[in-house]
Amino acid sequence: MIKKAVQEAFNEQIKNEIYSAYLYLSMNAHFTSVNLNGFANWMRVQSGEEWMHAMKLYDFLLNRGGKAILQAIPQPPTEFKSPLEIMQQVYEHEQHVTASIHDLYEVATKEADYPAQVMLHWFINEQVEEEKNASEIVERLKIFGDNPAALFEIDQELKTRVAAPAGAEAAA
Ligand SMILES: [Fe+2]
Ligand SMILES: [Fe+2]
Repeated sequence: MIKKAVQEAFNEQIKNEIYSAYLYLSMNAHFTSVNLNGFANWMRVQSGEEWMHAMKLYDFLLNRGGKAILQAIPQPPTEFKSPLEIMQQVYEHEQHVTASIHDLYEVATKEADYPAQVMLHWFINEQVEEEKNASEIVERLKIFGDNPAALFEIDQELKTRVAAPAGAEAAA
């Protein structure tokens, strides 16, 4: 049986992951509206991954006999600026999520919840990846973002991102 403090922290993180899915979907809508279809694709794939993160936490919580208490999801921003500013927003958001995952791990450690700790190792690694992916795009946009031809090229490249097959994260 899962402890109350751990359950609460999991419910909080489920909300954070669904908010992330929502935020990136809003960015998908924006990029689609300005015909940056590669950026739009990247956001759509990212949004789907965030939903999978939420489901991974949700399934774990239920498998441990915990209660999923779904919370209100805040409205994400709907107005956006340049691709660079948006990707900076993504990078900052991922850093914020990393901190919340670390807080969750801290609760699992304090409550001596070993299964939760083991499961959260996947999320800790994933956040390293997430921050790296966002920061790489930020750095490239800082160098090339003002050049339309280079922006076009980055957009073309982001078109190639595909969703990870379902269950792939379990094998990682
Ligand atoms: Fe996530
Ligand atoms: Fe993320």
